[in-house]
Amino acid sequence: MAEDLTIIRSASKAEQYTSLIPQIQALLEGEPDLVANLANIAAALKEQFGWFWVGFYLVKGDELVLGSFQGPVACTRIAKGRGVCGTAWAEAKTLVVPDVDTFPGHIACSSLSRSEIVVPLLHNGLVAGVLDVDSEALDQFDATDAQYLEEIVKLIKW
Ligand code: SME
Repeated sequence: MAEDLTIIRSASKAEQYTSLIPQIQALLEGEPDLVANLANIAAALKEQFGWFWVGFYLVKGDELVLGSFQGPVACTRIAKGRGVCGTAWAEAKTLVVPDVDTFPGHIACSSLSRSEIVVPLLHNGLVAGVLDVDSEALDQFDATDAQYLEEIVKLIKW
């Protein structure tokens, strides 16, 4: 496994994902540990895109509990149906939030976060966690991010 990422900056968003995805596959290759793999995915996304916060929450009982992440300290527990993360879990679908202030019940772990995308992690047909990405910019995420981040979370081995 290569421990250094090749980061491309002056490229389209799709090109950045296309460059990153095989590198994430290589990082996960031969490593069965979930925490190690979630940590490397969060780090790789943060390094390529420089987003404010990138991380995972995992379903534990009736809550999401903070997992591997990159960025400032964050809320540790989120109930099903609460905030963007809990709603993505309850609805089992990706949520793109262009302006967090307009999302009813948004949980502000940081007042600097302005837009967000949350992608459910599916395991045996059930939501087992979410990938949450926050940006300090409004309207940071779109259908391209949804498409590629959904592709990336499918690489996770449970
Ligand atoms: N904003 C999220 C909470 C998690 S933090 O952004 C890291 C939410 O509304 O669910």
